[in-house]
Amino acid sequence: MIDFKALADKYKTPLYVYDFDYMSAQYNELKEAFRARKSIVAYAIKANSNLSVVKHFAKLGAGADCVSIGEVRRALLAGIPPYKIIFSGVGKRDDEIAEAIQSDILYINVESEAELGRVELIAKELGKTSRISVRVNPNIDPKTHPYISTGLHDNKFGVDLDTAKRMYIKAKNSESLDPVGIHFHIGSQLTELQPIYEAAEIVADLVRSLEAIDIELKFFDIGGGLGITYKDEETIKPYDYAQAILGTLKGLDLTVLCEPGRFLTANAGYFLTKVLYEKQNGEKKFVVVDGAMNDLLRPSLYKAYHKIEALTNSNEEEREVDIVGPVCESGDFFAKDYPLPPLEHNDLLVIHSAGAYGFTMASNYNTRGRSAEVAVENNKDRLIRKREEFEDLIALEKEFLED
Ligand code: LLP
Repeated sequence: MIDFKALADKYKTPLYVYDFDYMSAQYNELKEAFRARKSIVAYAIKANSNLSVVKHFAKLGAGADCVSIGEVRRALLAGIPPYKIIFSGVGKRDDEIAEAIQSDILYINVESEAELGRVELIAKELGKTSRISVRVNPNIDPKTHPYISTGLHDNKFGVDLDTAKRMYIKAKNSESLDPVGIHFHIGSQLTELQPIYEAAEIVADLVRSLEAIDIELKFFDIGGGLGITYKDEETIKPYDYAQAILGTLKGLDLTVLCEPGRFLTANAGYFLTKVLYEKQNGEKKFVVVDGAMNDLLRPSLYKAYHKIEALTNSNEEEREVDIVGPVCESGDFFAKDYPLPPLEHNDLLVIHSAGAYGFTMASNYNTRGRSAEVAVENNKDRLIRKREEFEDLIALEKEFLED
């Protein structure tokens, strides 16, 4: 059990706390599920890119799925070997492509014909061969929130099957390109197995038709997206997930690569915030806290549910309240009509499932410094990111002040 009160006293609030042992358990369960094949669990750094978190996964043997050269640098710095790093994303700058090739990562995941052209040109200029995979958009409805659904043709991601085939033929015939993988990712927070299975079948068939024309791939990259329980969602069990995927690969000698983010970190993370005061506007009761949408954006952006626990001595009856932050936006809330007991100044709220897309989506809106981050491992806590102070926020502007 993590002593949230002690951590809030020691490190102050707002604060992110991560249970590293939980992250290890999630990683090991997923890795184990794929043990019938060679596999790489490439942690999707975008979920939580704190260097100590990435290092933790590096030590467990994970790879990294990156969507910017900044993330590639983080992965390398944290000790992920280049041969386990992939670089995805629908738009990559020339300098990012060049650096990825120079860094000798496992492959660049290409998302359009135009991009394949750029990668070829840049590799040629560098006198190198770039390993690539193609992101296929299998046109499958993943049945998740539209903002995090990516596998339909009206989403910007990937290419259709015919285009993918053309791209593989081009890559095979190019001296500067080496097609090694195939990739799909149909969405995030997936709680149904069927759409993933259907997508995998479609993509595995494409692999077979490529083999028929002598294009032999090595990596079958199934993306990320495994959902977690925020409230009461039934989720996909890693074992069932792996079995479904492996079932589509009969007769193919491929290493499975998966890119989980949320599954590994979301329920390892807690966001701690203190009550400033309560207020009443007409019928409506608000609890105003010291954390805000700039710290944890998911409720504001997606109306996402996060369980909120009040650590208070009050044993009075719960009422329905809106839990809001100090930012000057009506959208600045963590929950609406949420049952909590009467709260006092400095009572602590623990917001659950905050380990993925929490800190990484934080901003400095309203000149608010981002929270500190703390790791808990083997019952010991340690700071893994300092709280941002005012001086940090103005550091890149100050020199331009004129008298
Ligand atoms: N691979 C690719 C190509 C992705 O686009 C993503 C997530 C992942 C892997 C990792 O997905 P995960 O396993 O974490 O579901 N900010 C949103 C989530 C955006 C996900 C973007 N792509 C949220 O807070 O729910």
